[in-house]
Amino acid sequence: MTGGCGFIGSNLVKYLRRTRPDWTIVNLDKLTYAGNLETLADLEQDPRHIFVRGDIADRPLVEQLINKHRIEAVMHLAAESHVDRSILGPEIFTQTNVLGTQVLLDASCRAKISRFLMVSTDEVYGSLGPTGSFSESSPLVPSSPYSASKAGADLFALAYHHTFGLDVVVTRCSNNYGRYQFPEKLIPLMIVNALRNQPLPVYGDGLNVRDWLNVDDHCQALALALEKGHAGTVYNIGGEAERRNIDIVKGILKLLGKSESLIRFVADRPGHDRRYAMNAQKIREELGWVPAHTFERGLEETVQWYVENRTWWERVMSGAYREYYEEQYRTRLQALS
Ligand code: NAD
Ligand code: DAU
Repeated sequence: MTGGCGFIGSNLVKYLRRTRPDWTIVNLDKLTYAGNLETLADLEQDPRHIFVRGDIADRPLVEQLINKHRIEAVMHLAAESHVDRSILGPEIFTQTNVLGTQVLLDASCRAKISRFLMVSTDEVYGSLGPTGSFSESSPLVPSSPYSASKAGADLFALAYHHTFGLDVVVTRCSNNYGRYQFPEKLIPLMIVNALRNQPLPVYGDGLNVRDWLNVDDHCQALALALEKGHAGTVYNIGGEAERRNIDIVKGILKLLGKSESLIRFVADRPGHDRRYAMNAQKIREELGWVPAHTFERGLEETVQWYVENRTWWERVMSGAYREYYEEQYRTRLQALS
């Protein structure tokens, strides 16, 4: 697995240790600001979780790891994942998301691994109007540097299947939420700001729509796609929970018993996609994926988790992150005045 110390990756490592106890996971992660090894502290003594700190774009390292551990399959999650950061500095997104993926694909081809699972995103499809949803055959029209880099990686993976015969499965999922998400993304940021009585910055008019997927349901889908997915195939994964940003923010405030006066409408994200919605029939019908969570219950559990795990989020939000965030927020407020 790559990126196993990030939000989805760490949930996936824990999910696989519970549900696939005979698998050994080699977790290659660079531990950027978004990666946190402490999240996996409970697996420190576990011989079936081997952590390696390193960069997916480091070709000799990747080749050595695949050979040394006789890797059978790659679950590729490592990425720069935040749209706002890609607007501030796109270069690292090309380096990690495109070049890093290509290095992994090359090494996987050479070692003839049995499967490469590419974790992509619904953002590769671009933005929807008020109706309709993305299917696997929707055109790829990414809008941000982040989504363009993910589309590049996604298409590289499919090209390695078509050109070199590598067994590739691509998943494209919607917005995940749940425990261990870095508080720069909408849901955890709003929760921790509300808990600290700080303003909740809502971009633009707050009417942008995202489809929300519980991270545990996503983990189940990724394991199924790895085990049963058809080579060369793309699977959409969605939560069937389309919500407007402003409604989510108000929902979080209500759960925490906080006032809506904490909401601040701030300058919009440049190129902000208006709406995402996913048609995930294919993974349901072909692989028997059945999501177990409703959004309202899942949001309540997530809010509760952040209430109970203040030490976790206070630690990951210290230092360089805080400077980045405060600068971002200042700039947005200035743009409004
Ligand atoms: P995240 O930002 O929380 O974690 C990314 C992880 O990758 C971190 O642990 C980081 O240290 C690691 N990493 C970054 N650059 C690396 C490099 N060069 N080499 C090795 N490791 C590196 O991301 P996430 O939200 O967990 O997303 C995981 C994957 O799922 C990403 O590929 C993302 O594009 C995709 N995705 C995420 C969502 C979502 O809602 N979070 C939705 C759709 C797709
Ligand atoms: O759709 C899948 C994608 O979801 C993933 O590929 C990305 O890795 C992940 O970061 C996420 O991208 P988004 O841009 O949709 O997520 P984010 O949490 O940054 O924003 C969700 C919505 O909330 C979006 O419309 C912007 C808005 N927003 C976000 C933040 C951080 C705000 O209004 N205020 C904020 O402070």
